[in-house]
Amino acid sequence: MLLSPDLLATVRDRFHHVDSCPFQGPRVFFENAGGSLTLKAAVERTAELMALPDNQGRTNIASQELGKVIARGREDMFTLFGASSGRVFIGETGTELLGRLIRNAIWATGGAHIVGSQLEHPATYSPCRRWAPLAHKQYTQVPFDPETSVVTIDQYRPALGPDVGVATIIHASPVTGMHVDVAAIAGEIRSRAPDCFIVVDGIQHAAHGRIDVDDYDIDAYVVSGYKLFSRHNFGVAWVSERLAHIPHDQLDGSPPDSWELGTRDASAYAAFSEVVRYLEWLGTQSGGSPSDDSRHLIERAAVAIRGHEHAIVDAMMHGTPDAPGLAQIEGVSVVGPVNSEHRAGMVSFEVDGHDGPAAVDALNAAGVRTHARRRDYYSAGILVPLGVESCVRASISHYNSIAEVEQMLHVVADLAPS
Ligand SMILES: Cc1ncc(COP(=O)(O)O)c(C=O)c1O
Repeated sequence: MLLSPDLLATVRDRFHHVDSCPFQGPRVFFENAGGSLTLKAAVERTAELMALPDNQGRTNIASQELGKVIARGREDMFTLFGASSGRVFIGETGTELLGRLIRNAIWATGGAHIVGSQLEHPATYSPCRRWAPLAHKQYTQVPFDPETSVVTIDQYRPALGPDVGVATIIHASPVTGMHVDVAAIAGEIRSRAPDCFIVVDGIQHAAHGRIDVDDYDIDAYVVSGYKLFSRHNFGVAWVSERLAHIPHDQLDGSPPDSWELGTRDASAYAAFSEVVRYLEWLGTQSGGSPSDDSRHLIERAAVAIRGHEHAIVDAMMHGTPDAPGLAQIEGVSVVGPVNSEHRAGMVSFEVDGHDGPAAVDALNAAGVRTHARRRDYYSAGILVPLGVESCVRASISHYNSIAEVEQMLHVVADLAPS
C-alpha cells in the first residue's frame, strides 16, 4: 500500500536533494541502489560531531560525550540488525568489511571448502577467490537459477558437505533487485556443516525491509551507511560471538573480540543512530505508538516501506492509468521475471535500439536519474547467465512517488521503437 500523500510529503522533506540535483536541476532519483538519499538529520549530526577535536577514551567531558554517542550507535545497530548477541563494528565500506571478515574466516576455519553463489557482488566473491587458494582451500560459486534469477537451497545443496568452512550469501542482488531467503539457505548450510562461518552481504537489502539476524543462524551481516539513508565512508558489520573470537587482524594486546581498527569516527555512529530515529518516527506514522520499543517501531517502518515500494515497483512494471508499464511498452524487456515474489526495490530493463549506457544518458537528459549495468566486473557474473549485454537499472526507495514513475515511463515509451 502506498504511503498517504501527506506522509509521503513529510517523508520526502526529511531527505536532501529529493527532486532536484544541485548540478543538474530538477530530476527524479531512481539510483537508490547506487546510494540512497541522505537524511538531513544524519548530515546535521555528522557536521556537529566532525567539528569536535576530542578523541575517545579520555576523562574530559567531551571525550565522555563522544563515548556515549558511540555506545548509543552500537545499541542502535543491534536493534536495527535484530541481534541480541555478538558484536557490531564500523569499517571503511561494505567491501572492506566483507573482505576482512571473509579473509579472516577462511584462515580461521578448519573446513577445506568455501561456498558462495554467482548472484554475489564482487565484494564477496573477490576475497573468496583470492584467499581460498592461498589457504589451500577450494572455492565453489554455485549458479543462480536464470529463470527466477535467485539462488535457493536447491543450488547450494550440491556444494554442501561437512567440510564447508565458510559460506557466503547475498541477501539481495544490486543488478536485478531479487531477494533470497537467507534463513532457509543458512539453515541448509548449518544442517550440513554445523561449524561453518556464514557471512551475509545485506548491503542492497537493508533499505528495503527488516533485518532479523537472530532468526538467520549466521555469523556475519554487513550493511553500508550510504545505501541506508546515511552517508559515505562507513559500513557496519554484525558478527556472532563465535566469529568475533577467531584470530583476526587487530592490534596486539587488544581484547580478543575487538574488530575495531583505530580511532572511531563518532559522527558515523551518530549518523547511523539518526537513521534508526528516522525509522522509529516512520514506525509511529505507520500504526506504532511513540511508547513502543525501538525494534517494534523499526518493524512497523519496514512494513510501511515494503508496502509503498511494492506499489511503486508494481506501477513501474504494470503502469498506471496515465502511463503504460515497462512490461507493456513494446521494445522494452524486463530483466528477470515480470512477476516475482523475490523482487523488491528495483526493475532493470533493456530498450531495443539503445544499449544500457545510451538509454541511461537519454533518461538523464530528460531528468530521470538511473544507472547502467553492463558486463563489467561488477555485473558480468549476473548479466552473462541471463544473456543480457547491458541494461538500465531503475532502483527505487520509499520516498519515491507514482508521479515520478510516470515521468520515467513516459521517457522510456518515447525512447522505445514503436
Ligand atoms: C550487494 C552489494 N554488496 C556490496 C557492495 C559494496 O558496498 P560498498 O560500496 O559499501 O563497498 C554493494 C555496492 O553497490 C552492493 O550493492
